[in-house]
Amino acid sequence: MKYQAIKGMSDIFYPEVAVWQEIEGIARKCLSSYGYKEIRTPALEDTAIFVRGIGDTTDIVTKEMYTFKDRKDRSLTLRPEGTAPIVRAYIEHGFDRAGSELKLFYIGPMFRSERPQKGRSRQFHQIGAEVFGSASAYSDAEIIIQLDDMLKLFGLSGCVFKLNSLGCKKDKETFAAVLRDYLKDKKANLCDDCKTRIDKNVFRMLDCKSEGCIKVMRDAPSVAASLCSPCASHFDKVKKILNKMNISFKEEKNLVRGLDYYTGTVFEISHPSLGAQDALGAGGRYNNLVHDLGGSDTGAIGYALGMERLVIALNKKPQSEKNVLYIATMGDDAKLEALKISQEIRKALSITVLTDIKEASLKSQMRSADKNEASLALIIGEDEIKLGTITLRDMATKEQVSVGMSDIVSEIKKRIK
Ligand code: HAM
Repeated sequence: MKYQAIKGMSDIFYPEVAVWQEIEGIARKCLSSYGYKEIRTPALEDTAIFVRGIGDTTDIVTKEMYTFKDRKDRSLTLRPEGTAPIVRAYIEHGFDRAGSELKLFYIGPMFRSERPQKGRSRQFHQIGAEVFGSASAYSDAEIIIQLDDMLKLFGLSGCVFKLNSLGCKKDKETFAAVLRDYLKDKKANLCDDCKTRIDKNVFRMLDCKSEGCIKVMRDAPSVAASLCSPCASHFDKVKKILNKMNISFKEEKNLVRGLDYYTGTVFEISHPSLGAQDALGAGGRYNNLVHDLGGSDTGAIGYALGMERLVIALNKKPQSEKNVLYIATMGDDAKLEALKISQEIRKALSITVLTDIKEASLKSQMRSADKNEASLALIIGEDEIKLGTITLRDMATKEQVSVGMSDIVSEIKKRIK
């Protein structure tokens, strides 16, 4: 029996994992420079958190969640996204009652049972950020500025920021009624999904990819006309700040997003290299979610970037390990000496030190040094043990010198980059 990873879920390992580590390092540094603190929530949550939070008619909740009963018959779900669990944690730990602003970030796996394709998997990873405790346009602008900053630090160019506002809960209701009215005599031209979406989740029709629906929705009324005056001026202010900060964005009247919790500003970042699944990340304001999940009224906004898509868009060659030193040995005395010296070297220099853990022949140890891209090798045999020396070999030039045991760290230091 040969076991395989679950379809749509992949192993990420060396050398590709180096790109992931680099992305995570840059993200942590950038987010913490804006005051974000990391949060790690469990992968499993009470199913109700997602049904209430994301919306019971959304695609995620109706078709994509990994939901199952545990041994006590409780319904649990592998998190399909990070926002609802973080709101749950925010309330559970009493931050909503303190009323202070809080910036949280997370990096981790999410699960959605979608049809796998390029840039779409069933276990995927997100870097996300959430800001609680502000309803100001400045927090909308700052989170977009932070995201733009971080994408640049990743070395990614060509990203397109699409921006829209859905307005408050009331505006969304007004807009839904306007859309339904516009669609009432056009049902025949819609796809089967959209025929039911009219009543259940009319916003989703705005980004339906079927030809008939695209045609019908082309002339659909825009959400902008349904915004109340405070929501319209909030959105204007966000755009003004972004313009002043030279953040380029495209206003997109049909941008609605697939999660019900959004109110006000919504945004999506796309990248041309991604093909059909071109959304690198997305986010928006969700001013009702903390209240809807049992907390107090709290202004909040956030985003999440898809890491698999980020890796595709960056198209980076993983860097090989910089300084690798291999210690080849013959005999137990030499092997013990190598274990001791390797610890000394690791402590003194930040390099990778490998020793023979297979009791292989010298020839095969040197092959191993090559395979591990070692730039230097130390050779310790019986003679070296007797004389208190070590042979130092430059793997590229094949040049060998004999060095006193006590001088070995400083000799290595001279030769590494
Ligand atoms: P989302 O748009 O559902 O938003 O997902 C954000 C990003 O996660 C997408 O733009 C995409 O890059 C990535 N993603 C989603 N599904 C998959 C998949 N099946 N395979 C690979 N990548 C995927 C959210 O999840 C919200 N929680 C974002 C947010 C945070 N809004 C406010 N705060």
